[in-house]
Amino acid sequence: MNVVVFASRKGGSGKSTLAAHLGSYMAEHSRPTLLIDADPQGSLALWHRVRGSPDLTLHVGTKHLAATLAKARRAGAEWVLIDTPPNAEASVTEAIWHADLVVIPMRAGLFDIDAVQATIQMCRDLKKPYAVVINAAPARNGSTDPSVADARGAMQTLEVPTWSGQITHRPELTLSLAYGAGVSESHSGSAGSEEIGSLWRALTRSFEAIEAMTGKQGQSA
Ligand SMILES: Nc1ncnc2c1ncn2[C@@H]1O[C@H](COP(=O)(O)OP(=O)(O)OP(=O)(O)O)[C@@H](O)[C@H]1O
Ligand SMILES: [Mg+2]
Repeated sequence: MNVVVFASRKGGSGKSTLAAHLGSYMAEHSRPTLLIDADPQGSLALWHRVRGSPDLTLHVGTKHLAATLAKARRAGAEWVLIDTPPNAEASVTEAIWHADLVVIPMRAGLFDIDAVQATIQMCRDLKKPYAVVINAAPARNGSTDPSVADARGAMQTLEVPTWSGQITHRPELTLSLAYGAGVSESHSGSAGSEEIGSLWRALTRSFEAIEAMTGKQGQSA
């Protein structure tokens, strides 16, 4: 069972967006998945309610996380996606403590690069594998946008593992969520759908690498 925590002190970086799109991708590919909304804002829970489908299980709240994960494991969940709030509350630390991998969505820009460092430090303190995912980036149009190149450079200087791909800023990523869907369901074959698919494949490869290093038995693809 792969536990992915979406965390960033920076509000609006895309934690809930990535959790929902990846959740829908898992459902579409019949991967037994538990979503945990550990953010009192309730964005992921709202999306799940609009979705109105039993293909993804949802747990809301921060209490009894260890028991919830143990129950999910017994029930055969392959993936657990935990959305967290943009702060440093104990619930975020606890979620990261249970993570096999922490995904830190980050927009390109000085303030975002600065804000993300507290979350990176938290992962380092807890000795958890983590990766920055550049989100809501300007479209590539043949070459990487200078703001994205700059953000990548900053991450490289700070020795922060960063996904080589990007999730581009696309209206369909917002629109599909309004219907309780993910972009791979509502806009199958679109560029946005391809990017979510490649993020999923990158996560899968990361889990394989983590398993190889730690000997942890997962059930990734
Ligand atoms: N790749 C994207 N393309 C288009 N819109 C996006 C993208 N990523 C995020 N957004 C939009 O940006 C806003 C903030 O995203 P989201 O709520 O996922 O961030 P968050 O990190 O969960 O925020 P919070 O910290 O407040 O929980 C939302 O309106 C969402 O639709
Ligand atoms: Mg959120």
